[in-house]
Amino acid sequence: MLKGKHIILGITGSIAAYKAAYLIRGFVKKGAEVQVVITPAGKEFITPITLSALSSNPVISDFFSNRDGTWHSHVDLGLWADAMLVAPATASTIGKMANGIADNMLVTTYLSCKAPVFVAPAMDLDMFAHPTTQQNLERLRSFGNRIIEPATGELASHLVGKGRMEEPDKIIAVLEDFFSRKQMLEGKKILITAGPTYEKIDPVRFIGNYSSGKMGFALAEACAEHGAEVTLIAGPVSLQVHHPRIRRIDVESANEMYEAAMQEFPSVDAGILCAAVADYRPETRAQEKIKHEKEGELMLHLVANPDIAASLGAIKQDKQTLVGFALETNDESRHATEKLERKNLDFIVLNSLRDKGAGFRCDTNKISILFRNGERKDYPLKDKSEVAEDIVEQLSELIKTKA
Ligand code: CTP
Repeated sequence: MLKGKHIILGITGSIAAYKAAYLIRGFVKKGAEVQVVITPAGKEFITPITLSALSSNPVISDFFSNRDGTWHSHVDLGLWADAMLVAPATASTIGKMANGIADNMLVTTYLSCKAPVFVAPAMDLDMFAHPTTQQNLERLRSFGNRIIEPATGELASHLVGKGRMEEPDKIIAVLEDFFSRKQMLEGKKILITAGPTYEKIDPVRFIGNYSSGKMGFALAEACAEHGAEVTLIAGPVSLQVHHPRIRRIDVESANEMYEAAMQEFPSVDAGILCAAVADYRPETRAQEKIKHEKEGELMLHLVANPDIAASLGAIKQDKQTLVGFALETNDESRHATEKLERKNLDFIVLNSLRDKGAGFRCDTNKISILFRNGERKDYPLKDKSEVAEDIVEQLSELIKTKA
């Protein structure tokens, strides 16, 4: 998986810099080409001669070559890379990357890099736990960078805690896994609905539900990550998309989501219907705020919304794949199977509110996948981003059979 891949290895001033030598050796053994970029502080911990000998490439540290004045182009380097790995990454470099402080070759290369970036922090436990470091890491995550969490163990300070750079073989495995999964949906177009819908009652009130949109957004990131062009139709949520291959369409009501989905579906290879669509909306929307009556009841007359999944299922072509969700509270399998068939889905992702940590308003989910041929796969409780990986795996298998 790493054969022929171009990897920029950014090394910073940490005791763990010696592990960079093992990283280079591991990458080169697997057929990758490594270009080292080292910060001035990094050179205090490991010599460029060792690194250039192992990588068979000159080590870049300065903006210009001291010998002949040639300019080292961080732009070209950024474009050359299939991946950039900063390992070890000190708190200082993480801070510079998070805030665009481009005062060395490593950070300028990072800012020019279009390829995915992996960051393996290495520092003392208190530095790692400090809110500044954690906020900077969060910021890098929000840019789509992948943080390879440090391990817990004895640190250079002889204190024991979380901050040790992950072992080189584990870091190499993360990149290998990334490249092997990346191709799964290459060239495919995927439509995803996510989040709740809001059905207006009057100018200040609506009927909604507790959906956070997290599962749908995690799916959008996972599909884009695996090479797909994603159109994400999102109800009202407070989430951001990170991957450049995600096109987001914001909607509010079920009707708006339906219009957008019907428009987009004919040109995609697959649809994943993750949104918690309101089944009903108020028949009329009051133009003015409904006033509080001291006595009596307020009656709202509700009418049915379009069923987006069933409508797409009805126009689905043989080469298209359609995936739905079923969040149930009872008779889970029976309800899910009924929806799978009624909506003409290829598979349905079932989660039950009876499972702790599954469903709305949490970062985890516990799913079962039910297929048309009666096959069923049960998964343990996982983070929603990992659940998204499982769903993408099944989806890509199915798409392959239709190609
Ligand atoms: N769905 C949809 N449009 C709707 C309702 C549901 O696209 N108006 C989709 C959901 O995104 C999900 C699947 O259909 O993928 C099942 O949703 P769910 O609300 O469980 O199904 P309903 O048919 O509304 O059944 P229920 O009676 O359980 O609400």
